[in-house]
Amino acid sequence: MEPLLGVLALAALLSPGLACPSPCSCSTKKNGRLLAECAYRELRDVPRGLSPNVTILTLSANRLGRLGRASLAEVPELQSLWLGYNHISAVEPGTFAALPHLRNLDLSHNRLAEFPWQDLRNLSALQILKLSNNRLAALPGGALAGLRELRSLWLNDNELTTLARGSFQALPALAQLQLFHNPFNCSCKLSWLGEWADSASVVISRPGSTLCAAPPRLRGRAVTDLPGSLCVAPSAQLTYLSSPARAGPGGGPTLSLHCSAAGSPPPEIRWRIRTAAGSLDIPGPAAEAGGRRFLAFKNGTMAIPDFGKGDEGTYTCVAVNDVGARDVSVSVALAGSEPPPPEELPRDDPQAGQPSCARDERPDPAAVGEKLLIVYHVPRRVRSAAPAREFRPGVLLLFLLGLFW
Ligand SMILES: *[C@@H]1O[C@H](CO)[C@@H](O)[C@H](O)[C@H]1NC(C)=O
Ligand SMILES: *[C@@H]1O[C@H](CO)[C@@H](O)[C@H](O)[C@H]1NC(C)=O
Ligand SMILES: *[C@@H]1O[C@H](CO)[C@@H](O)[C@H](O)[C@H]1NC(C)=O
Ligand SMILES: *[C@@H]1O[C@H](CO)[C@@H](O)[C@H](O)[C@H]1NC(C)=O
Repeated sequence: MEPLLGVLALAALLSPGLACPSPCSCSTKKNGRLLAECAYRELRDVPRGLSPNVTILTLSANRLGRLGRASLAEVPELQSLWLGYNHISAVEPGTFAALPHLRNLDLSHNRLAEFPWQDLRNLSALQILKLSNNRLAALPGGALAGLRELRSLWLNDNELTTLARGSFQALPALAQLQLFHNPFNCSCKLSWLGEWADSASVVISRPGSTLCAAPPRLRGRAVTDLPGSLCVAPSAQLTYLSSPARAGPGGGPTLSLHCSAAGSPPPEIRWRIRTAAGSLDIPGPAAEAGGRRFLAFKNGTMAIPDFGKGDEGTYTCVAVNDVGARDVSVSVALAGSEPPPPEELPRDDPQAGQPSCARDERPDPAAVGEKLLIVYHVPRRVRSAAPAREFRPGVLLLFLLGLFW
């Protein structure tokens, strides 16, 4: 027996183009493509010794449990990879990224709770992706972006409870989508799916089996047929205190911005601040990230005591709910120590000690663009020269110039 094995090994070495590992059978198809058939062989690993010219590899119905990064390194020309009906529970990131010509990838009927989604960025030729009958609980937003050739996507029979808005948006070729038999939580987070399905030319296979598992009152209802009135995207409006406000402990002006948001469910408010020093995200009220510098309150107000030159920049309120997000920005600048020319003084202002909210009259500030808000820090010297009630130490005047760009 041994000499025969030696001869076989030698033959394999001499003609690597025909190399075929013993459990597999290899053949050249009419179109010249090399097929390696290794299905139904009780394999626990991807066999070694495959020709680098193999373009089709079938490994279905084996006992593969884990795919390491190097497992497919021998076959970089692969166009079709069939791995269905194995026991695969883990795929090391990078395993598929090394297969840029891949068009068909079948990993259905495995045990995947995770998938190396980032590998898909390298698979721009991918047309068919079958991940059905696994244990996937999430499809990260943007995971499929860039798959311009993807025609068919199978995600049915997994453990998906929700899908990020726009998950299937950047897929111009997508024609068939299978999502049935997932325990979808039909919160407003998922309300986009029905709208998208109505507008897209994609066929969602078996919509009658693509059902809500939660909340209880929607259980058994088709995911694509949810009552829309419960879910309203946020709207947001930024206003600011336009009359003398509390002076900060350092004697400087306090800037108070107020973001009022509406929507269903009620939106949460976050802030994004861009100053010359960099940008800062304040994810919610009393968040540590804001530190002591920026005081974000539950009611949507943000206060910046001792507003100084370094605080100049763009202040953005972001209203977020399960349906979507809306942001509205204002640019804030600190005028020098010169008081504003009298004719530019805000007229509705002088009720000292009676803070009021100046509301933008426009119905949709976010659509107009950023506004410029100027904080004037009126120095003591000026105060004494001016009518006493209007100018006090550290008086803050917020002045909307109505400049839009
Ligand atoms: C792969 O195919 C190319 C062209 O079809 C051929 O020239 C080359 O020798 C093959 N490589 C191997 C290792 O068989
Ligand atoms: C994936 O694509 C990126 C960018 O095109 C490239 O740098 C990287 O080497 C590729 N990864 C693999 C494993 O080929
Ligand atoms: C469904 O989603 C909502 C909103 O995101 C969440 O509050 C709720 O806990 C989820 N329910 C289940 C069963 O996961
Ligand atoms: C929001 O709450 C803060 C702190 O309690 C308060 O100073 C501010 O005036 C409130 N804003 C509005 C618009 O009610």
